[in-house]
Amino acid sequence: MKIVITGGAGFIGGNFVHYMVKKYPNDRLIVLDKLTYAGNIETLQPVMDKIKFIKGDIADRKAVYKLFEEEKPDMIVNFAAESHVDRSIENPEVFLLTNIMGTQVLMDACRKYGIQRYHQVSTDEVYGDLPLDQPDLFFTEETPIHTSSPYSASKASADLLVQAYGRTYGLPVTISRCSNNYGPYHFPEKLIPLMIVNALNDKPLPVYGNGLNVRDWLYVEDHCKAIDLILHQGKAGEVYNIGGHNEKSNIEIVKIILKLLDKPESLITYVADRKGHDMRYAIDPTKIHRTLGWLPETKFEDGIVKTVQWYLDNRSWWEKIISGEYVQYYEKMYGDRCDL
Ligand code: NAD
Ligand code: DAU
Repeated sequence: MKIVITGGAGFIGGNFVHYMVKKYPNDRLIVLDKLTYAGNIETLQPVMDKIKFIKGDIADRKAVYKLFEEEKPDMIVNFAAESHVDRSIENPEVFLLTNIMGTQVLMDACRKYGIQRYHQVSTDEVYGDLPLDQPDLFFTEETPIHTSSPYSASKASADLLVQAYGRTYGLPVTISRCSNNYGPYHFPEKLIPLMIVNALNDKPLPVYGNGLNVRDWLYVEDHCKAIDLILHQGKAGEVYNIGGHNEKSNIEIVKIILKLLDKPESLITYVADRKGHDMRYAIDPTKIHRTLGWLPETKFEDGIVKTVQWYLDNRSWWEKIISGEYVQYYEKMYGDRCDL
């Protein structure tokens, strides 16, 4: 098999490349990544001699067609995206360009050159949010699309395009919608790695609003296993929700991290809330369990210990990040976010 993995130098894409190299040593894996601020070639260093890496933009039609022409891939897994909600609130445009137009270019290439499978890595955020006072409500694949942020609107638009190309042109597409991931190589602008890194540096931990918003956390390797199953056994045209029934409020997460690092809760600082902040995400993963036999394997208690340990063991990976342009990002995003 020849598989193109876009966004393979990012958090989940990078973990997926590591997973696939190990599981399918005879497959040819081609990573296409623009290396934006979120892409990190060091994430791929341990497997670089086993893959082909191309620096390029999924929205660059010429470059994408050239890749298809040369490689004639059997499958595409599209992880490439602008992925941070807070950045989408500051500057939506690049989210539309990459997440929507980039997806369209990839699918046009699939139409032109043919493909066995195009897989779109989507998110539970396309379903909007759920209230805190109805814990028996979950997102199923039938839940209507109802987005909140420019990020989620761009991901939902891409999903609709993928489905349209499936129906109109008969492209063999699948979509997965996963809950929040955590694990190694997670960029420290997102909740869990940001809190680990700040705690290690004895810096304040900025919790938005009252900290009661709930996310459904899944260890990244479990997400990779689910995508592998969908690629190889999933049915074209289908959407699969992926989640671990592991709901935690943000403040619970922050306190767990502080405890694991033996740091004081006095580091917690409540700051101004995110605009349009989604209250609760919770996935019903019944379909992927029933049809493909997928279940999460890593319990949160174990996954979070492994994750914290990874950040302790891989300081150079994140120290380089937080000393670069991240400094300006942090100042811009958190400098004027008043304490509550
Ligand atoms: P990330 O921001 O860590 O990585 C994104 C990668 O895409 C980076 O390597 C970046 O360089 C690359 N990229 C960005 N724009 C590009 C472009 N125009 N062309 C080529 N490459 C480009 O993101 P992530 O957290 O790993 O998320 C990966 C995918 O999974 C995204 O589509 C996201 O919407 C989805 N997702 C993420 C989560 C999560 O919890 N992180 C959960 C569900 C779904
Ligand atoms: O649900 C899947 C989604 O999960 C993915 O589609 C996104 O790409 C991914 O970034 C993630 O989105 P969230 O907005 O849920 O993740 P984030 O880590 O940015 O925030 C998680 C929660 O923590 C959210 O309620 C906001 C809060 N938060 C976040 C940051 C960065 C804070 O309280 N303080 C912070 O500094």
